[in-house]
Amino acid sequence: MDGNGRWARRQGKPRIEGHKAGAESVRRIVEACSEFGVRYLTLYAFSTENWRRPPREVAELMRLLERFLAERLEDLERHDIRLNAIGELERLPLPVRRGLSRVMEATRDNSSGVLTLALSYGSRAEIASAARRLAEDVAKGVLSPEQIDEEALAARLYTADLPDPDLVIRTAGEMRLSNFLLWQASYAEIWVTDKTWPEFDADLFRQALDDYGRRERRFGKVPNA
Ligand code: IPE
Ligand code: MG
Repeated sequence: MDGNGRWARRQGKPRIEGHKAGAESVRRIVEACSEFGVRYLTLYAFSTENWRRPPREVAELMRLLERFLAERLEDLERHDIRLNAIGELERLPLPVRRGLSRVMEATRDNSSGVLTLALSYGSRAEIASAARRLAEDVAKGVLSPEQIDEEALAARLYTADLPDPDLVIRTAGEMRLSNFLLWQASYAEIWVTDKTWPEFDADLFRQALDDYGRRERRFGKVPNA
């Protein structure tokens, strides 16, 4: 979700206003997922790299997140969506962790969709931690090195219980993955728009899904094989 800052600058507003407008986009897109039948939505809301932003901006983002968790429970319940979170969640401030646990607990039996927030998330750190867990299991004798395959590693990622993404949408014209789901997005289709995240709406989302539907996914095979 990129371009909150740029959107704000264009409006002559402080960056935080961009993040607020971005939170409003999140609300709209979660709504649109239910309408379009998208069952899994993963939002890259805060990366491990984002901790290096000015402390005031980080604090404001954390406050917005806290507010989001307090206000969105009702929509999630209405649409039967389960909240999930991936990342180094222990680094988040206590009120955010509490809010996350509360909403995750309240929605745990919802089954029409899964909203995953990637928070303090970095894909390389995730893969490194999966490798560490494999090593621990080998050291404990519950796993042999020969048993280490793609499935064994994937089972130790934060996303073990999620399907791989089919489509990765990038806003504000950014043509990079920025340490997002590097393992999981191996075969994902990538769709880029110049519109910023606060401008991203259901119509644009529909366009991304339509374009995705027209792409031919071969997974390394020859056409129609
Ligand atoms: C994305 O918008 C929001 C977060 C990373 C939380 P940016 O804040 O990166 O916006 P730009 O890149 O400055 O426009
Ligand atoms: Mg940015």
